[in-house]
Amino acid sequence: MPHVLFDTKKLEGREGYFLITSLVIPRPIAWVSSLSPDGILNLAPHSYFNIISSDPLIVHFTSTGVKDSLTNVRATGEFVINIVTEDLLEQMNDSSTRFPPEENEFEWAGLETAPSVHVAPPRVAAAPAALECKLNQIVSLGNGNMVFGDVTAIHVDEAVMEDGRVMPDLLRPLARLGGSNYATVAGHTLKLPRPTWEEMQQRGKP
Ligand SMILES: Cc1cc2nc3c(=O)[nH]c(=O)nc-3n(C[C@H](O)[C@H](O)[C@H](O)COP(=O)(O)O)c2cc1C
Repeated sequence: MPHVLFDTKKLEGREGYFLITSLVIPRPIAWVSSLSPDGILNLAPHSYFNIISSDPLIVHFTSTGVKDSLTNVRATGEFVINIVTEDLLEQMNDSSTRFPPEENEFEWAGLETAPSVHVAPPRVAAAPAALECKLNQIVSLGNGNMVFGDVTAIHVDEAVMEDGRVMPDLLRPLARLGGSNYATVAGHTLKLPRPTWEEMQQRGKP
């Protein structure tokens, strides 16, 4: 089949957004809890989320434009990334509504809080894992404001662990696809150890 070529300079409106978010998939979802300087609790999902460094632990989420999560983190320097699981799909989706800044998404989504240890924003009690983060820096590129956070504590429910490791089939994370589509991971995982250079040399080129 011939490939369709999109010249990105000629894309109109939100065409680029729809294309890129349908192709860079599946994306993990950072469910970001934060507090305003006045103590108003905020919760919002961000699927532009990934690991930056594993030593020390640094993660990022990106706010497209300026939203309450970004404003809060900029003002307070603290946030929590809660891991979204299959059973939290509807609450996560409800929390993504453009609520006015004075509204508490935990209340609207019917979620309980659990205390954090190093940062003021609480965790989502129902989330089996959460990363407590302190703001490292914010880098703005295009319409993206990348929030880099130093991970100061990680909470993991024992129920999703085996032999000290997190098991994807127990964690049951949810991933974002294009549009309003999501993917589940549990039951679809594969295991394949990475070959060494010596093994590749023995095997030779196909
Ligand atoms: C699954 C999912 C992923 C999302 N990912 C992002 C994202 O990466 N960046 C972003 O700015 N908005 C993202 N959104 C939209 C925000 O959650 C939404 O704009 C929300 O109202 C922002 O809340 P806030 O103003 O309280 O920060 C996403 C929404 C959903 C449902």
